[in-house]
Amino acid sequence: MHVAIVMDGNGRWAQEQGQPRIFGHREGANAVRRAVEAARHEAIDVLTLFAFSSDNWGRPVNEVSALMDLFGLYLESETKRCRQNGIRLSVIGRRDRLPVSLVEAIHLAEERTAAGDHMLLRIAVDYSARDSIYRAARAVDSAVSREFFELAIQAVMYSVSPALDVDLLIRTGGEMRLSDFLLWECAYAELVFLKKMWPDFRAKDLRDAIGEFHSRNRRFGKVPVAANPPVLTPAADMTNIPVLSQ
Ligand code: FPP
Repeated sequence: MHVAIVMDGNGRWAQEQGQPRIFGHREGANAVRRAVEAARHEAIDVLTLFAFSSDNWGRPVNEVSALMDLFGLYLESETKRCRQNGIRLSVIGRRDRLPVSLVEAIHLAEERTAAGDHMLLRIAVDYSARDSIYRAARAVDSAVSREFFELAIQAVMYSVSPALDVDLLIRTGGEMRLSDFLLWECAYAELVFLKKMWPDFRAKDLRDAIGEFHSRNRRFGKVPVAANPPVLTPAADMTNIPVLSQ
């Protein structure tokens, strides 16, 4: 099962406490630790967290640089724990605009956790779904048929930022939108929107969202397969319906 989370509400959470926004991001990093720990105990194979969108570069410089520092610190502090727990860490998104020290920390974390086979933890940094679709599409623009195009996009996106279909997308913070996160991969995702802010996210919230996911009827655009399909009686058989004369 692939769970993706838009971790929204750090800023408002901090403001509610009369604190600067970065205070909320720091508490958000603790919520990330808790969420990863909780995910490890659920049947989750892939957990993708939206940490920094490509549009977030438009935030005040001090907030952006504090976030970059926080990502670096998180990778440094969590690599060991991930290794011990069989979690493979991977960062998706562009790397060419990130601070060099963060790119190095990403390489190191990915290298050190590469053998993890219990869960894949993907952190999206400088990520834009439209950008990854654009880059994938550019690479396969000679595709001939829609089917081939989709397969090719899937393959290329896998190399750009692995296109793993999302089963459940959770967004905290009360907004109900995708904000350019995993647009391709969320084609058939079940969406769960929570009013609570990300720093308040607990293991129970993940469990409840997964429970909600299991209560949904996923049809993928098809009709449900009935256990005992009704046998058509002659009366219900369309061929027996008399043609009305005009
Ligand atoms: C959105 O809330 C959150 C972010 C843009 C940053 C997410 C970062 C973290 C959860 C902390 C660190 C992450 C890792 C992976 C260590 P917002 O700031 O837009 O909140 P607001 O909508 O209330 O303003």
